[in-house]
Amino acid sequence: MKSTIHHIEQTTSTQQEAHRLIAEGGVKTGDIVLADEQTAGRGRFGRSWISPNGGLYATVICSADPLLSLKAGLAVVRALRSVGIEAGLKWPNDVMVENLKIAGVLIETDGNHSLVGIGLNLTSAPLQTATCVAVYVNKPDRNEWAQAIADLLFDIPSGSAAIDEYRSVCLTLGNPVSIDGIGNNPPVGGIAVDVDDCGRLIVQTREGKRIVSSGECLHLRESNLSG
Ligand code: BTN
Repeated sequence: MKSTIHHIEQTTSTQQEAHRLIAEGGVKTGDIVLADEQTAGRGRFGRSWISPNGGLYATVICSADPLLSLKAGLAVVRALRSVGIEAGLKWPNDVMVENLKIAGVLIETDGNHSLVGIGLNLTSAPLQTATCVAVYVNKPDRNEWAQAIADLLFDIPSGSAAIDEYRSVCLTLGNPVSIDGIGNNPPVGGIAVDVDDCGRLIVQTREGKRIVSSGECLHLRESNLSG
């Protein structure tokens, strides 16, 4: 898909810029809003995303798609694997390398559009629990990464093929997990046994199987791609 990259040196958040551009009619599906740095980067669960110069901060304008959250994580994994970085996904879309987070995905909706926000640590890791691309390869060009990830995102097939690929790189499956933040309910604890066709996590608890559609997933032991 032919993208226009809307480049901004500094912004609060590329998500906010994307909402503004949509309101002005200034973007189309496939476009990318890219910033050198963000002063109020947004993470999942209302957290902030530390966004110093040197990282990738991009929002890809997409059409609504129920599997977009999983596909966005898959696109980042494909991009990293294409340069030899053995990335996997912690459900639903935390991108991990050697048990450290290298990228995160935040999806917001705006009318008929979905805004896929991607933060990828390129040159530095802002937290001890994080890693960055520079640890593995010297490839700091933000535009190239953004375009590659967007192209891969639009290339991921729909339906069961996407889910099958997702399962193959999902580090969560087979692990003891705790899923927190499901409304006011207590965490769901058990073994993550599958991801269903809608991208929901199936957790085998002591009381039976639970289907979890959102929440923060904690792995209760370190995981690797062979399970
Ligand atoms: C997460 O919490 O894991 C998701 C982080 C998403 C960060 C990206 S950076 C580009 C886009 N703009 C934002 O403000 N957030 C997303």
